[in-house]
Amino acid sequence: MADSVKAPHENWSSRTAFIFAAIGSAVGLGNIWKFPFEAGEGGGGAFVLIYLAFVFGIGVPVMIAELALGRRGHMSPPNAVKKVAQQESRSPLWSVAGWIGVIGAFMVLSFYSVIAGFTLSYMVDSFSGSLSSLRPDNSEAYFNGVTQNFSLILAWHIIFMGITIAVVARGIRGGLEKAVTWLMPVLFAILLLLVAYSLYVGDAAETFRFLLEPDWTEVDLETVIQALGQAFFSLSLALGAIMAYGAYVPKDVSLSRSAFIIAGADTGVAILAGLAIFPIVFQYGLEPGAGPGLVFITLPIAFAQMPGGLFVGGAFFLLLGIAALTSAISLLEPLVAWLEESKGISRVQSAIGGGVSIFILGMGTVLSFNHWSDFTFWRGTIFDNIDFLTNNIMMPMGGLIIALFVGWRMRRISVRDELSTMSDFGFRLWLIMLRYVCPLALMLIFVGYAFKGVLFGDG
Ligand code: PFF
Repeated sequence: MADSVKAPHENWSSRTAFIFAAIGSAVGLGNIWKFPFEAGEGGGGAFVLIYLAFVFGIGVPVMIAELALGRRGHMSPPNAVKKVAQQESRSPLWSVAGWIGVIGAFMVLSFYSVIAGFTLSYMVDSFSGSLSSLRPDNSEAYFNGVTQNFSLILAWHIIFMGITIAVVARGIRGGLEKAVTWLMPVLFAILLLLVAYSLYVGDAAETFRFLLEPDWTEVDLETVIQALGQAFFSLSLALGAIMAYGAYVPKDVSLSRSAFIIAGADTGVAILAGLAIFPIVFQYGLEPGAGPGLVFITLPIAFAQMPGGLFVGGAFFLLLGIAALTSAISLLEPLVAWLEESKGISRVQSAIGGGVSIFILGMGTVLSFNHWSDFTFWRGTIFDNIDFLTNNIMMPMGGLIIALFVGWRMRRISVRDELSTMSDFGFRLWLIMLRYVCPLALMLIFVGYAFKGVLFGDG
C-alpha cells in the first residue's frame, strides 16, 4: 500500500540543482548520437521543425504533468501515482503509469550502458591515436570490430554501470547533485568548444543551409512518428526519471517554468550537437543521412584527417560519455527509490542490487552485437526488441496514461495547487494541450503502427 511505505527521500538542495539534474537527464545519447542522424535522415530542417513542434506542443505539457504528479506523490513513481490516485479517489490501477516508468527505465538503461560503453571505447582509441588509421573504406569494419569484441564491450558495460551505481548509491545530494554540478558545466564547455572548432574548420554555410532549409520530400508518416518518439526520449519523458526527479522538488519551485528551461536546454544541445557534427560531415564530403553509424562510423573518418582531430574526437566521445552518465543516473533512480521505499532496503544496497540486475539484462544487448547476433525474433536482436518496446510502445503508452490521469482524473484544484505559479491563461492552455492534443498525438503513434503493420514485424 502506498500509505504503508515510507518515503525517505531528501529534496534537491536548490532549484538550480534540480534544473541541472533534469537537464542532465534530458541531455544524453539521444541529443548527440540520435538527433543528428535522425535529422540527417529526415530532411534536415524539416525534421527539426517537426521535432520542435512536438517538444513544445506535446513534450512540455507532458513534462509539466509528470513533474506535478511526482511532486504531489513525493515518492518513487509507482507509489507516487498510487498515492495521488488514492487522494483523488481514483483506482490504484493508475499506478501502472509509474510501473511503466520503473520497468521501462530498467530496460532502457540496460542498452544505454552498452552504447555508452562504445563511446568510452572510442574515446580511449581517439586519445591514444588508434583511430588515426580510419578511412571511408575501413571505418565500418572498425566499428564492427569494436562491437563484435565481446570482452571489450563487456568491460565497458561493467565500468559504465559501476560508475552509475556509485553515483546513485550516494543519494540525491551527495551523489546525483554533486555529479551533475561538476559534469554539466564540463559538458557545456566541451560542446561549445567543439561547435566553434567545427564551424571554423568545417563547412558552416552548408550546415546552416541543411538545418534551416527544410527538405519536405524526405518527410513521411514514419518521420513524424520518429520525431515524436525522439522528443519523448530526448526529454526523458514517461520513464519515471522526470517523475522521480519531480518528487524531490521543493514546493516553491515553478514546475512549468522549469519544464520550459529543461526543454529549451535539451533542444539547444541537440541543435548544438548538429552544429558540431554537420560542418565536419559536409567538409569531408560524408553522408549526413548515414543513420545510427553517423557518430561512430562517419565522423571518426573526419577526426582521423583533421588537424588535431584525434584530440577533438577524444573530446567529442568524452562529451557523449558524460551526457550518457547524467542520463543513466536518472534511469537508475526510479528503481532505487522504489526499492528503498517498498522493500525497506538501504540506498546503497538498492543501487547495487538494481544496478547489477540492469547490468545482467544488458548482457542481452552486449551479446546482440556478437555471439548472439543471429538470434533474432520479432524486431531483430534482443537489443532491437528492447529498444523498440521501450521507445515505440512503453514511452508513448506511459505518456498517454500520464496525460489522461492528470488531465482527466485529477481534480482541477489539486493540479492547480501544484502549478500555482502559472497564469490562468497559461494553465488553461496547458490543460487543453494535455487533455486533447497530447492524447490524440500519442494515440496517432499507435494508429500509425497499425497501418504500417509495424507491430507485426513487416513495417
Ligand atoms: N533523455 C536521454 C537522452 O536523450 O539520451 C535518455 C533518457 C534518459 C530517456 C532518461 C528516458 C529517461 F527516463
